[in-house]
Amino acid sequence: MICIDGPAGAGKGVVAGDLAGRLGWRHLDSGALYRTVALALLRGGLMDADESRIEAYLRECRFEFNAAVEGEGNRVLLNGADLSAEIRAENVGVAASRIASLSVVRRFLLARQRRFRRMPGLVAEGRDMASVVFPDAPLRIYLHASLEKRAERRHKQLKQKGINASMGDLIRDLAERDRRDRDRPLAPLKRARQAEVLDTTALTVLETRDAAWRLVTAVWPGMAAG
Ligand code: C5P
Repeated sequence: MICIDGPAGAGKGVVAGDLAGRLGWRHLDSGALYRTVALALLRGGLMDADESRIEAYLRECRFEFNAAVEGEGNRVLLNGADLSAEIRAENVGVAASRIASLSVVRRFLLARQRRFRRMPGLVAEGRDMASVVFPDAPLRIYLHASLEKRAERRHKQLKQKGINASMGDLIRDLAERDRRDRDRPLAPLKRARQAEVLDTTALTVLETRDAAWRLVTAVWPGMAAG
């Protein structure tokens, strides 16, 4: 079991996908689950509803959280409709970071995230993987990078999709999401006890993957040969 936590744009998805592929383990992108719940609440017009209404609504919805597809994160369905692409929109990310502070949402997703843990292993990425969801994970990585670098990466990703976002807006949105994730009382984003810190600001994707792989082989030396 490996946990990778850190802010948006630090490279968690790339590292988690790479490690899961190399190890033949499952990959949980917990952000995709928060995004799916956010999209359900956006569609239901319940973003600002009280927690009891949200709880009742979530119980009525049929969520399916499936195994990750290489490079794309987990496949998610709501009432039978595949929303894996829709949840990637910026407004859904912002909505996810708002509803992620609600205890009803975190409770709703806790067991669903833990269900991903099966043999031979799981690489889970998010904000509270090591601190709350899988506190006994033998390897915990805290991945981070400067705000500017993370915004630059997001800008490049969006450009590849043909979306032209302004750097100023991206920096502002990321800073706002960081603040919400770090300051919330429930499961805030923080470096968990005994987490290995990896700063990816000056690293290429390849260098980041290599550094993460070295952390894996330090914990499981037998993997080095594979
Ligand atoms: O990782 P991603 O940016 O897709 O996550 C969307 C939002 O969901 C984050 O900004 C964060 O607020 C929330 N989240 C969370 N805990 C997790 C994963 C995501 O609070 N484990």
